[in-house]
Amino acid sequence: MKAIVYTKYGPPDVIQLKEVEKPTPKEDEVLIKVHAASVNAYDWHFLTADIFLMRLMGGGLLKPKNTRLGADIAGRVEAVGRNVKQFLPGDEVFGDISANGNGSFAEYVCSRENALSLKPGNLSFEEAAAVPMAGFTALQGLRDQGQIQPGQKVLINGASGGVGTFSVQFAKYFGAEVTAVCSTRNLDQARSLGADHVIDYTKEDFTQNGQQYDLILAVNGYHPISAYKRALTPQGIYVMAGGSPAQIFQAMLLGPVMSKKGGKKMGGVTGRPNQKDLALIKELLEAGKVVPVIDKRYPLSETAEALRYLGEGHARGKVVITV
Ligand SMILES: NC(=O)c1ccc[n+]([C@@H]2O[C@H](COP(=O)([O-])OP(=O)(O)OC[C@H]3O[C@@H](n4cnc5c(N)ncnc54)[C@H](OP(=O)(O)O)[C@@H]3O)[C@@H](O)[C@H]2O)c1
Repeated sequence: MKAIVYTKYGPPDVIQLKEVEKPTPKEDEVLIKVHAASVNAYDWHFLTADIFLMRLMGGGLLKPKNTRLGADIAGRVEAVGRNVKQFLPGDEVFGDISANGNGSFAEYVCSRENALSLKPGNLSFEEAAAVPMAGFTALQGLRDQGQIQPGQKVLINGASGGVGTFSVQFAKYFGAEVTAVCSTRNLDQARSLGADHVIDYTKEDFTQNGQQYDLILAVNGYHPISAYKRALTPQGIYVMAGGSPAQIFQAMLLGPVMSKKGGKKMGGVTGRPNQKDLALIKELLEAGKVVPVIDKRYPLSETAEALRYLGEGHARGKVVITV
């Protein structure tokens, strides 16, 4: 079978489409014929090791330990190990296999069943593959770290990419009044996803206009953590999901120190794939309450192009690989 393989960190040119052995599922695994995958900043970080911490957190110090890339997946179950209880050959599934060794940029991959759910019936494989990792991050950032409540004023900074487009929709699902921050060309997209207010970051700095929010989800860009704190209501919560390295490190290092008991809370979210949340996401997708936004599609042979495009940092919604 064909698979994307990389043996050294670097730009997208270092990846290769190679002929490799088709995997066989272990007792607790399913073998999936991949129909689509989607690209995440997560893949970019593992490819380039641009965040040094990734090397220490199991990525491999000098070269990648795991030569396979791709977390988000949608496909058809081809075979199941004998301890697999939830799926049968022929089932259409989707999920995030980042806790199962990655490898969705390939014709086949094995995963434990706990990373998967049946694919929403109303979505194509491409649409389904666009959802899991960005969906988990948006959902868990708002609901778990952000403790979102109906009627709250919620601001999403970086509302037009993979995580941002889901965040706007989840925040509306939870009944919040949503302000989406994005650049001029993406304002209409944010409105169409349900944002009540939009702020064009090329024209206005939302941390300087005196407005305050109960919850801020920082998905992209950069503001000093002190500026985010200023834009929170007295019991407001700041959740960093991503953005520039400075934004990420400030939340990790200064967030705990700047949080006050009974006062403002400053922290971050790491999306964790799990079947319970995947089931909720599936339900919302099937009800049409959340829709994936796909910017571009690339064939497996052009995965390097897809990664390059994502790495430029201006994808509008998700970038999908069709297999
Ligand atoms: N915590 C987690 O578990 C987790 C999970 C997934 C992702 N992440 C992180 O979350 C971040 C976003 O991921 P993503 O998948 O949404 O990325 P993405 O799809 O590549 O984001 C691209 C979008 O970001 C917008 N953007 C770029 N610069 C901006 C700025 N200065 N202010 C506001 N928006 C800006 C772009 O809009 P314009 O073209 O209009 O600028 C574009 O639409 C990344 O840092 C990623 O590593 C974290």
